[in-house]
Amino acid sequence: MREAVDDHWYPVGLLSGLEDTRKTLLLGREIAVGRNGAGVFVRDAAGRALPTVARFGHLWTSPGQPTRDLFTIPEADTPGRQLVDVGSVRVKCSPLRAVENFLDIAHFPFVHTDILGAEPHTEVERYQVDIREEVDEVWATEVKFFQPQAARSAEGGIKTEYMYRVPAPTCAVLYKTCPPRPGEWDVITLFVQPLTEEWCEVWPWMALYDDQSTMAEMVSFQQMIFMQDRSILENQIPRKLPLDPGMEVPTQADMTSVAYRRWLKRIGYTYGAQLVAA
Ligand SMILES: [Fe+2]
Repeated sequence: MREAVDDHWYPVGLLSGLEDTRKTLLLGREIAVGRNGAGVFVRDAAGRALPTVARFGHLWTSPGQPTRDLFTIPEADTPGRQLVDVGSVRVKCSPLRAVENFLDIAHFPFVHTDILGAEPHTEVERYQVDIREEVDEVWATEVKFFQPQAARSAEGGIKTEYMYRVPAPTCAVLYKTCPPRPGEWDVITLFVQPLTEEWCEVWPWMALYDDQSTMAEMVSFQQMIFMQDRSILENQIPRKLPLDPGMEVPTQADMTSVAYRRWLKRIGYTYGAQLVAA
């Protein structure tokens, strides 16, 4: 049986940032998030306790009845990584648009110019995309792209290899070539809290091998990247993510996006989505 929108897990705060009670929205409904003598808590507007999971530096909750555990990222548990709480960015866009933008490589040279991409290296080579039925996730692999500065620790341009994974409707995980550790992947995630269908709190989180940068430097690098995305995201039309094929023309670079939309439609996840052409 498919999970309803309410039955998924959602990020609602940084574990390191929970002190008193903070009010926020989840799927258009007010919740209270915080920490007291008994531990962390999330309550709905009626004061009922919602289930919680503490993982990847964040507190997660669900307003429904989750039938599955929150996904795992085994790579992020390997020792020696810097676990980076990037913080949050509020964006006036559909939570699904925020995830889709994170999956899109083609925008790198134009939005993150001279950092994650640069002209004339704008071509996206053919890569693999599939919906893995056994785990119910979208995966893109063998993605390769030229980057002038792939990470804060990178010196000079390199061809970076990526994998993208969508383990939940409002979460995406990016695995990327790790310059100081060949053979390992850096992990960069985007956890999106749907405040409403057209407004979200984005919580990026990273598990990196980086012995050179300070925590503050890694946070500000990622925040700078995300601020470049924000203005693009807030100007997308339609504001909700269209799920019907043909509403936006797919190109090679959009294959991950096409799979993501198809998967959302298949699992019936429609919060923040537009189903019929306006
Ligand atoms: Fe971006």
